[in-house]
Amino acid sequence: MYKYHIVTYGCQMNVHESEKIAGMLVELGYHAVSSPEEADLIVFNTCCIRDTAEKRAYGNIGALKPLKKKNPDLMIAVVGCMTQQKNASNALLSKFPFVDIVLGTNSLDQLPILLQEKRQKGSLIRVNEDPTVDPSLELPIYRTSGTNAWVNIMYGCNNFCTYCIVPYVRGRERSRSLEEVVADVKQLISEGYKEITLLGQNVDSYGHDLSDGSDFATLLQRIDALPGKYRVRFMTSHPKDFDRRTVDVIASSSHICHNIHLPVQAGSNDVLKRMNRKYTVEQYLEIVDYIKSKMPDVGITSDIMIGFPGESEADFESTCDLVKKVRYSNAFTFVYSPRKGTPAATMEQISAAVKKSRITRLVQLQNDITKELSEGYIGGTYEVLIEDVNPKYPGTVCGRTDSGRLVTLTGSPDLIGSFLMVKITKARSAALFGEMIKE
Ligand code: 5AD
Ligand code: SF4
Repeated sequence: MYKYHIVTYGCQMNVHESEKIAGMLVELGYHAVSSPEEADLIVFNTCCIRDTAEKRAYGNIGALKPLKKKNPDLMIAVVGCMTQQKNASNALLSKFPFVDIVLGTNSLDQLPILLQEKRQKGSLIRVNEDPTVDPSLELPIYRTSGTNAWVNIMYGCNNFCTYCIVPYVRGRERSRSLEEVVADVKQLISEGYKEITLLGQNVDSYGHDLSDGSDFATLLQRIDALPGKYRVRFMTSHPKDFDRRTVDVIASSSHICHNIHLPVQAGSNDVLKRMNRKYTVEQYLEIVDYIKSKMPDVGITSDIMIGFPGESEADFESTCDLVKKVRYSNAFTFVYSPRKGTPAATMEQISAAVKKSRITRLVQLQNDITKELSEGYIGGTYEVLIEDVNPKYPGTVCGRTDSGRLVTLTGSPDLIGSFLMVKITKARSAALFGEMIKE
């Protein structure tokens, strides 16, 4: 029996795509192994959204050369959105001639055929540049995320933020039908999944391309009406499309978590305009205020980027001011990196030293806020869905509050998948610690 090992880079979307790759491989009779040394097939599921993820993938693929030399039967496949960029697949093969298969995101379904063909032929490339095909929809899924199940509600993006490669490699927005998504969620709940995460590059524009009037708020309402004890999360939202109606639906729902990932990217109107984000700081703060007024217990998270071309010190300070106003429970902070083919790549870039200083200051600021917010949890009791053991602390398990905060408590693995009431007793930066409340 063949053994496979998948290395995943990038976002949740990619983690879920790796589950689809695994689904195909398991159907072919492969089984998963945790180290590349044991594998007959290594799949790199790449991401090109930022330079760091791309560099890491290049480094890790290169590092496999000796392994391939030792075991010529080892197959190496590179898939994912990095390969979907213009000319990237040929560049990859000329740099790493020992790679057997290069497969675009839009051709993922062809992996089994290529594996078979490859056993007879040389290196193979299959990249479909037509971004309107979604072969991954039909694929079996080998779920790896424990209590949580991912569900794609849409693919692609129409927004063309000037720094972002996603619309070029993932194509325009295509929503799945509302009935199909609801049926998937219903099925997953009946299989025992306790948390469903709806995925899309811009979930708030869900349904805009459908002619039946479906939209994101309606989808959430329909899902929330399904019976059972479960939670629903979703990502990613776009501030220009996240409307009050959606907030109202979440606030009055029984299952949709009060946890909203609302990437702001920058806190300067000038930078936002040049990023083509289509909202102002004032509009962003208005929707944040509305969210907080309807859900005082909400956890709001964000993606924030520093070092966008032309970002002045005053622009950066505006970003810090916004971070102080919103008080995110957590923020993913990024240093802008130029992506070939995007408008911002040709704008005048700012120096690495300035970027470094700004990211350090931003991370420090956000850490201080996260820490303060963590302390506010102490003494409170929250419902926590236990997701896993916490390997850092033997004898403990961990899970999330509705607002998305990670809590560790003493407990055994049989608690995984249960909802427990937990009293928070201690906080350390982003980490919360607590104890189970006996019923
Ligand atoms: N450089 C740095 N960060 C980027 N992101 C997207 N493109 C780039 C880029 N070129 C960040 C954005 C986005 C997140 C997924 O990645 O913050 O929200
Ligand atoms: Fe990229 Fe902007 Fe689309 Fe998000 S909304 S995927 S940042 S283009």
